[in-house]
Amino acid sequence: MFENIQSRGVDQILAMMQTFKADARETKVDLIVGVYKDAKGDVPVMRAVKEAERRLIEAEDTKTYVGISGDPVFRGQVPALLLGAGSPVIAQERVASLQTVGGSGALRVGCDLLNAVMPAQKIWVSTPTWANHVPIATDAGLTVDTYPYFRPSDRGLDFEAMMAHLEAHSKAGEILLLHACCHNPTGVDMSLEQWQIVTDFVVERGLIPYVDCAYQGLGNGMEEDAAGLRIMAEKVPEMVLASSFSKNFGIYRERTGALSVIAKTPEDLTKTLKAAETLIRSNYSMPPSHGARIVATVFDDADLTADWRSELDEMRVRIAEVRQELRAKLEARQVTQDLAFLTDQNGMFSYTGFNPEQVTKLREDHGIYTAGDGRINVAGLTPENLDAVADGFAAVLR
Ligand SMILES: Cc1ncc(COP(=O)(O)O)c(C=O)c1O
Repeated sequence: MFENIQSRGVDQILAMMQTFKADARETKVDLIVGVYKDAKGDVPVMRAVKEAERRLIEAEDTKTYVGISGDPVFRGQVPALLLGAGSPVIAQERVASLQTVGGSGALRVGCDLLNAVMPAQKIWVSTPTWANHVPIATDAGLTVDTYPYFRPSDRGLDFEAMMAHLEAHSKAGEILLLHACCHNPTGVDMSLEQWQIVTDFVVERGLIPYVDCAYQGLGNGMEEDAAGLRIMAEKVPEMVLASSFSKNFGIYRERTGALSVIAKTPEDLTKTLKAAETLIRSNYSMPPSHGARIVATVFDDADLTADWRSELDEMRVRIAEVRQELRAKLEARQVTQDLAFLTDQNGMFSYTGFNPEQVTKLREDHGIYTAGDGRINVAGLTPENLDAVADGFAAVLR
């Protein structure tokens, strides 16, 4: 039987990681995977996370199951984090969250849920989008189609093309997948005016918005990064949100995420949560405990929350500074093309526009590893490797 099995392969980012590991050069630089690294190149455990873990270990007196929907304290905190504590949607009791296995698990349960109500429905994703969006939606049974998003000429957003395409081709009931902030892989986000326009269009056309919020707090701040989705949440009758704590808590391996649903009425919400629970039950049954307990412990304590926020702010500021430094160093190396995109784009990723030839040259000649599509993790830049990276980039750009 297994001799006939076909693999569609691991995604190219994971494949590139294998090549990076096998490279013996000491000066090699990893700008591949989307994890936050500090100025020393480490992926740190945040102070508030360490303290929360210490308290949890001390207080934990059982390892019994957490339940299908996850930790109730955590679940209660997520809507306010996404929508703002004063959101009318919360006051109307039209939103609830389920704890999931990371943001990926949230995306999958959300797609399973949508496919259960609307089998094989179309889901619109941006070109490009995060490499795992398409397999997740496809394996859940949905039909993936794409809308224009990134404009290579200025490495910015082609909003006119996006809207014209959706205007011409999308139909009522179809799903529109959007990135809340720090678009992966491009770093190119919609402005609040553009969120407003998309919101009006979604309402008028009758689309179901599905917002993936994986980087809240790493672009412009916790509130700022959710401002667009908040505009939408207050106007649309129904919405699905997948969020992740992997990045803003640095707890990647603890697999902590949430699926949030906004329904038309509290009654619809109850029915939807029950349906989602049956899908979870037959999949992984129940989520793990630890990551969600860390998040819940931090948000339950004002001092821990303040410390977490200040460390998150330090991370965000470092990313923004590194973007500026890289731009300045490239300009100092007489790279004449417009480099504004480096500082205009948000979050950990920058879509450099390097073609496959340049990506290979960077890797082979300079030991600089980017994703195959030219995406770089800006957080992989450190004072130690910045000059070497600028030299390499300048060499392929000139
Ligand atoms: C856009 C986007 N959505 C979701 C995720 C999933 O994150 P998690 O590691 O929590 O599954 C990622 C992670 O890279 C991402 O970039």
